[in-house]
Amino acid sequence: MKKIIIANWKMYLDRKGLMNLLNKIKFPGLRSKVFDLVVCPPFTVLSDIQKAISHMAMTVGLGAQDCFWAERGAYTGEISPADLVEFGCRYVIIGHSERRKHLKETDEMINLKLKAALAAGLAPIFCVGETAEERGSGGAEASVLGQLQKGLADVKVKKNQKILIAYEPVWAIGTGKSCEPKDAVKMHQFIKKEIDAPVLYGGSVDDKNVLSYVKEAAIDGVLVGGASVKPEVFSSLLKEVATLK
Ligand code: PGA
Repeated sequence: MKKIIIANWKMYLDRKGLMNLLNKIKFPGLRSKVFDLVVCPPFTVLSDIQKAISHMAMTVGLGAQDCFWAERGAYTGEISPADLVEFGCRYVIIGHSERRKHLKETDEMINLKLKAALAAGLAPIFCVGETAEERGSGGAEASVLGQLQKGLADVKVKKNQKILIAYEPVWAIGTGKSCEPKDAVKMHQFIKKEIDAPVLYGGSVDDKNVLSYVKEAAIDGVLVGGASVKPEVFSSLLKEVATLK
């Protein structure tokens, strides 16, 4: 199976910065048989990025970083999943730990968002992961299982649809302290017992460590934050993954 690389551009760069980034990234596997690439810019630049990637030789998928759970209505400031589809998005990140932390998103809200995204025809990238305390006290699996079970309650993934799980230990995100590949593999195998879906690893992935993850059969790809907005590092990361047989 092809590996999946998702660039989570977060709120790191402005429009000009992101357009420059896209121009500077070198895509080694133009017709890559090895990986699929998805970029997730902020809402405000979805349209610009969508136009830019539609002119590129390599197929690049477009994703958003969040969506709301209702299709339409009096929800000031929110974005409908249907509107993301209209902007060319095929993916949407849901339940990222930064939203759980800063926006107080709950498992129940995430559950509604997952259902709404699937109903609109988007492929959700559902993020789960334990905190340092939970791992320290031996509660990593229980924490991830709780998030999975609550997030996926009554979620039906139809035959022609897909959902991706991103295992992102909170302590590894943006810290440079990436999870040991063998620990990530263990958690991925654990998650795959719960749901039959591709599972990506995220948390301080860069060009130096990416192969140690994607060479593992249990790791279907990576979700990359900080390293995806550094053109040299991200180009070198893509080159590394393209060497996979
Ligand atoms: P990071 O972020 O690669 O900067 O650790 C990953 C993520 O939050 O998706």
